[in-house]
Amino acid sequence: ARIAVFVSGRGSNMAALLYASRLDEAPYEIALVASNDPGAEALALAEAEGIATFALSHKGMTRAAHDAAMEDAARKAGAEHIALAGYMRILTPGFVQRWEGRMLNIHPSLLPKYTGLDTHARAIAAGDSHGGVSVHLVTEDLDAGEVLGQIAVAIRPDETADSLAERVRIAEHQLYPRVLAEHIRSTRHAD
Ligand code: GRF
Repeated sequence: ARIAVFVSGRGSNMAALLYASRLDEAPYEIALVASNDPGAEALALAEAEGIATFALSHKGMTRAAHDAAMEDAARKAGAEHIALAGYMRILTPGFVQRWEGRMLNIHPSLLPKYTGLDTHARAIAAGDSHGGVSVHLVTEDLDAGEVLGQIAVAIRPDETADSLAERVRIAEHQLYPRVLAEHIRSTRHAD
């Protein structure tokens, strides 16, 4: 299956998806890496790896117009699924509906706990024993779609949001390629 990956930042999850896609058994390939930030590090990495990229700043654009351009780029690349990987924009309902069941997101908490931002600091402040990461289907409600996979990460004494984020990131890179591959395989069987 052809995948478009939407990114806004560093792109470590995009890199995890990309390198996993090069394993023989991978059921997907990355057809496009697209960003709302033309300076995103993820784009430079994708280019170095020979992956097609699309960058369009959202600044000065309506959400609808920006989303339409991103969606158009994904379709032109032949994407059948979209993987959001640190894409820091909320998508318009129409976009989400058109890709329902075919758009995934990675979120750094054990959903349904801690949707939104500052998830690690909130888990530590609440005295939780574990933080973690979830991959879920994207629906109109932020971070509320069906959870497809999770990994829990222990919160240690003297943990900081940064130290926890660093270990959760390692778990993210394990989780996302596997859940995406599994989801694509199960979608195919359903066809
Ligand atoms: C990750 O922590 C992911 O869970 C969150 O945004 C971050 C993206 O990091 N949604 P990267 O750009 O993949 O390194």
